[in-house]
Amino acid sequence: MGLDFSDDEGDLSKLTNDSNLQKKHNHREEPMEKIFIFDTTLRDGEQVPGACLNPREKLEIALQLARLQVDAIEAGFPISSPGDFEAVKAIAERVKGPTIVALARAVHKDIETAWEAIKKAEKPRIHVFLGTSDIHIQKKFGLDREKALERGLEALKFAKSLCPDVEYSTEDASRSDPDYLVQVVEQVIAAGATVVNIPDTVGYAVPQQFGQLIAYLKARVSNIDKIVLSVHCHNDLGLATANTLAAIENGARQVECTMNGLGERAGNASLEEIVMGIKTRKDYFRLHTTINTREIMRTSRLVSRMMGMPVQANKAIVGSNAFSHSSGVHQDGILKDRATYEVMRPEEVGITEHTMVLTARSGRHALRHKISEMGYDLQEQEFEAVYNRFLSVADKKKRVYDEDVAVIVQDVIFAHIDHSKLYSLESYKVTTGNGEVPEARVRLRREDVIFEASTQGDGPIDAIFKAIDKIAGAYHRLEDFQVKAVTETKEAMGIATVRVSREGFRALGRGSSTDILKASAKAYVQAINRLYWLLQRNSEACQSENGLSISR
Ligand code: KIV
Ligand code: ZN
Repeated sequence: MGLDFSDDEGDLSKLTNDSNLQKKHNHREEPMEKIFIFDTTLRDGEQVPGACLNPREKLEIALQLARLQVDAIEAGFPISSPGDFEAVKAIAERVKGPTIVALARAVHKDIETAWEAIKKAEKPRIHVFLGTSDIHIQKKFGLDREKALERGLEALKFAKSLCPDVEYSTEDASRSDPDYLVQVVEQVIAAGATVVNIPDTVGYAVPQQFGQLIAYLKARVSNIDKIVLSVHCHNDLGLATANTLAAIENGARQVECTMNGLGERAGNASLEEIVMGIKTRKDYFRLHTTINTREIMRTSRLVSRMMGMPVQANKAIVGSNAFSHSSGVHQDGILKDRATYEVMRPEEVGITEHTMVLTARSGRHALRHKISEMGYDLQEQEFEAVYNRFLSVADKKKRVYDEDVAVIVQDVIFAHIDHSKLYSLESYKVTTGNGEVPEARVRLRREDVIFEASTQGDGPIDAIFKAIDKIAGAYHRLEDFQVKAVTETKEAMGIATVRVSREGFRALGRGSSTDILKASAKAYVQAINRLYWLLQRNSEACQSENGLSISR
């Protein structure tokens, strides 16, 4: 049983002396308005260092976001790289249901490229942004307010000439002069914007003040009712969800958010927190979303695995501890009635008790079911490759857990899309022991040529990495390396994650094996392959035509 205050407000009704609550109380009979969920996991979320999704991975996540029933998917920033352009285009062509959004600066080339990428979408939207704070206007653009507004309006009109649905973002709105903001919002609405977004770009806002800013715009902008007013909050002070909820209380009707709260720096407002906040406290907000909340957990796990970004255990809604109770007093309460210590039911966010564990005897049907239950959407030849790998893992292990399956699926997806794959691990041998300097001999294949190198290192993994560098060249920097057992038993599969960088580009490699040395070697080779693939693909696209460099 979960708590639902909507029919019986219980003790909360005593609080209705408060004017705000009184207002809600008096309007109980009004239909609940909808809050539009604009997901930017694949754009702002993908700006996280090291996330670097490739087009196939972005499409996989977008398909799952459509199952989650978000209203809009911001699929990327097409001018930023040919890879992102390709990803946004593939999403626009394949993903049905949500509006597909592409980001563009207030620059013709960006807008044209954004339109090229999304024009085949069922519901395309161009999202143009330009700063409104004095610091952005003066320091970033060397303009004054009037000239900045002119540039924004010009860009908006151009976007509108291509696409009927255009969103305009007043970047750094929370640090802007509210009266200038009123002027900008009013004029962009008059020029045809369909959605106006008020970002707290640097996570500076506090809830009450941000709510007041939204109320101020609602009161002062004469044509505000012609558009959907949106907010986009960053989490630098840990207030992104609170600021977003304050904004919707004051009239914002679209919220921009990401799965697991991923995003630039400390991240964005988290989709799962906002959606479950609105749902669990509908007695208070009197609003609703059309998110299929039972898809939340699956989406969170898929995003975490694909991006190589683990979710902290105590993360609200989707952390592994979010529904576990350890204190004796709480356990006792939960056993008597779950509502004693739970405000939501785990099933509401898609957590189910029964997980099917696969074994060597599980056939294709069971594996296919498991894969789709985990949110992947594979082509037939990919499925066959996964099945073959599954059989060989199942031969070595008694039980094959979800995490094992995820690692296999992702390995297959990478192998399939990495056309530029330069090297693959052929074999390795490490000699080490007490008091001995570890030595590794590694053989890599590139097309049909085998390369071999031997070297010593501080440890067995260091020796393997150095031998790989000897073959592939050590022009990159190793940023991060982690190994984790993905299942609890002795025969656990190890998953290694490696991040490498060069010239501001970062790539993530993952490798899995029941042998952690092999998993590490595979991850390192994959990271190097992907980094050089990225460098190659993006070399021409780092500068836009007007010379503004694109941040990554
Ligand atoms: O944080 C921000 O201001 C943005 C805009 C592009 C909406 O991400
Ligand atoms: Zn942002």
